[in-house]
Amino acid sequence: MVTGGGNGIGRACCVRFAAAGARVVVADLMTDAATETVQAVEDAGGEAVAVQLDASDQESNTAMMRTAVETFGGIDVLLTAAGISHADYVSGDRSGNEELVAEAIERMADPASAFVDMELAAWRKVLDVNLTGTMLAVQGAARQMVASGGSGSIVTIASVAAKHPDAGPLAYAVSKAGVWMFTKSVARLLGPANIRVNAIGPGFIQTNMTQVLTEIPGVEDMFTTSLPLRRLGTPDEVAAAALFLASDESSYFTGTILHPDGGYFTD
Ligand SMILES: NC(=O)c1ccc[n+]([C@@H]2O[C@H](COP(=O)([O-])OP(=O)(O)OC[C@H]3O[C@@H](n4cnc5c(N)ncnc54)[C@H](O)[C@@H]3O)[C@@H](O)[C@H]2O)c1
Repeated sequence: MVTGGGNGIGRACCVRFAAAGARVVVADLMTDAATETVQAVEDAGGEAVAVQLDASDQESNTAMMRTAVETFGGIDVLLTAAGISHADYVSGDRSGNEELVAEAIERMADPASAFVDMELAAWRKVLDVNLTGTMLAVQGAARQMVASGGSGSIVTIASVAAKHPDAGPLAYAVSKAGVWMFTKSVARLLGPANIRVNAIGPGFIQTNMTQVLTEIPGVEDMFTTSLPLRRLGTPDEVAAAALFLASDESSYFTGTILHPDGGYFTD
């Protein structure tokens, strides 16, 4: 089961997991995008089903679990990729990009404004989707895994922003730091039930979320010139790490974080 499976990193995970033999529940706020991912999985000979999910809503998460159990009989692996970079983020919508860049430039000149002018609703939205959304999906999947008496592997998507405040806006970085601490804490609680919980903390990956960076001349270079690998990562490079953590290849890993980040954390 993959939340945020309609685009970017989530979609790449769906396709890679299916290629490794998984039957995949593709959950996303955007049903069209989830259906496209199902098509991509089926075109490659795999099996998948799309389900609409609002990650921040408990009932929606419960419905997603029900679909997984009714369609495929249970949940072995959960990957939580549903996420937003800021409150108004809509994956693939380029219309607000110029405004976003203008705001970012303004903030560089007056960093305090990013905090003192921040709206409570905007803070809450990011925390609701990224952190509470992760908690709800993990809780729902863990309930199924515990009830079935079996094992399971849960992979959360954090970010390098979980550990470095410069890697994303305030609420985003805090939400991802929360995802990372949540992952470690839940790994301790679920380990005795034979359920492993690990995180991935990607660096800058080419998806809709970072397309605002690559669209503006010179901005991508700002991010990549200090990176040892000198380039953005691909969603499939994150999916490769996710498959490792999801599979028995990582059977002695729990409560850890892998950083496919091009060497971001070498400094
Ligand atoms: N792209 C990067 O550089 C990068 C780096 C580190 C972490 N991440 C994280 O990876 C994850 C995937 O992001 P991406 O880069 O693939 O972006 P993306 O926009 O391509 O994918 C995010 C997906 O989440 C879905 N989504 C958003 N809100 C949702 C909600 N309330 N309920 C259900 N689905 C929802 C979107 O519709 C979209 O399909 C996010 O958690 C993001 O924070 C991305």
